[in-house]
Amino acid sequence: MEPVIAGNWKMNKDPAESRALVQQLLADIGEVKERIVIIVPPFTSLLHVAEIARNTCLKIGAQNMHWERSGAFTGEISGLFLTSIGVEYVLIGHSERRHIMGETDEMLNRKLKTALDIGLISIFCVGETEQERVQNRTEEVILRQLENGLKGIEPEVHKMIVAYEPVWAIGTGKTATPEQAGAVHAFIRKHLKKPCTILYGGSVNPDNAEVIMAQKEIDGVLVGGASLKPESFARIVHVTIP
Ligand code: PGA
Repeated sequence: MEPVIAGNWKMNKDPAESRALVQQLLADIGEVKERIVIIVPPFTSLLHVAEIARNTCLKIGAQNMHWERSGAFTGEISGLFLTSIGVEYVLIGHSERRHIMGETDEMLNRKLKTALDIGLISIFCVGETEQERVQNRTEEVILRQLENGLKGIEPEVHKMIVAYEPVWAIGTGKTATPEQAGAVHAFIRKHLKKPCTILYGGSVNPDNAEVIMAQKEIDGVLVGGASLKPESFARIVHVTIP
């Protein structure tokens, strides 16, 4: 499995800024061999970014989608609209969607099924809050998110990616230690049974990416803040992996 490096731009960069960012990323990243590099801009930038990134090393992901293909869902985006403009990946269940927008495991399960049906590769995010970790409930929470989110779904390599993102590490500058992350990844892998790419996310930066990716259980990273800085993201893309 090739290592995956994904950059989630969240609600940053208007279309003009996105064009400039993707151009600078391409210049700074240069040639990429045997790594999958995904950028995940906001919806309003997807078309512009997809056009610039066509036939380059960058693949495009979206930050969310609805579970229905079309209909009366004001403000929502169909996965089919995404595939029609060259989007290949979609984040499902990012902690900001779960915790700020109130998305439930059941909603995420429907989204994951639709993404699989229409050929979008989901990056399915799971992770515990700080309180849950302190209460020693990490495994229980991850198991619930996996069991409910994946009900009726057999995750297959190349069709779905799982991202472990401890909520307390996102945007806080606190990273899980490589051992903490490695242990949760091993737990997820055991539960999934089939081979699956599992990413770590939460305050990944150019200085810690190498130790994180050196963990044998960690297949890549989902980067937030550092993916908005071309030079930082390029360094993460090219870290040495043993
Ligand atoms: P961060 O975000 O790298 O800024 O912590 C990660 C994420 O939310 O995917």
